[in-house]
Amino acid sequence: MSSVIRIDTISKSYGECKAVSQLTLSLQAGEILGFLGTNGAGKTTTIKMLLGFFAPDSGKISVFGKDPADAVTRQRVGFMPETAYYYPYLNIYELLAFYGGLCGMSPAHIRQRTEELIERTGLQEAGDRQLKTYSKGMLQRAGIAQAILHDPDLLILDEPFTGLDPLARIHLRDLILELKAKGKTILFSSHELSEAELMCDRVAIMKAGKLVLDKPMSEVAGDGNTNLERIFLHVLETP
Ligand SMILES: Nc1ncnc2c1ncn2[C@@H]1O[C@H](COP(=O)(O)OP(=O)(O)OP(=O)(O)O)[C@@H](O)[C@H]1O
Ligand SMILES: [Mg+2]
Repeated sequence: MSSVIRIDTISKSYGECKAVSQLTLSLQAGEILGFLGTNGAGKTTTIKMLLGFFAPDSGKISVFGKDPADAVTRQRVGFMPETAYYYPYLNIYELLAFYGGLCGMSPAHIRQRTEELIERTGLQEAGDRQLKTYSKGMLQRAGIAQAILHDPDLLILDEPFTGLDPLARIHLRDLILELKAKGKTILFSSHELSEAELMCDRVAIMKAGKLVLDKPMSEVAGDGNTNLERIFLHVLETP
């Protein structure tokens, strides 16, 4: 198996705040990684570096063997941000047409994928309503559709389950597992330990910028005493 993501001893500070310290982590092709940790642990900062939004202060990152900011690499990556600030006057068709255009998709391909994804994410009811009228969960669904529109090989989702109702959550889990079955690689950050436990091949836990656990899920999930919640409590409460 080849590494899709290789993070080698990266650090990143915002002024005095050390957001990520000496992080080393890798993800193999076809794996799902659950990226967990408390608020402010450094998950989103790491994700932004994986997307090439900014470089680490030190250390190295490669995605598909290249710099994350490489244009060809970026075309193979889909991203759903933790908070989406979409242009509020667009409807879902216009939003996906805009992002599809950025990815170099043809108008016919965009139309076909848009129909598929509106159905997959349950946004049929939204019709041509503007995004500013969407509920939180509807915006999350639009974010998921946007992230997978161009059929990326690596999908990075920053807290994708936040705000989803139970049905949408189940559908998203099924969708992620279906993408994995197609050979896609997926990294998602989450505070939903149960979702991570149900889906992930690996789990990584961050605490105050440092990686405190990185293990295959098979070594984490077990009987009632060694489930992910217990391990999460243990690694985060140990000084
Ligand atoms: N633009 C910024 N300027 C200054 N500090 C920042 C900035 N972005 C993040 N930080 C700080 O960096 C640290 C890591 O933040 P980050 O957003 O990466 O955490 P997170 O693990 O994604 O948290 P959450 O679960 O709340 O989303 C925090 O202490 C945060 O306050
Ligand atoms: Mg975050």
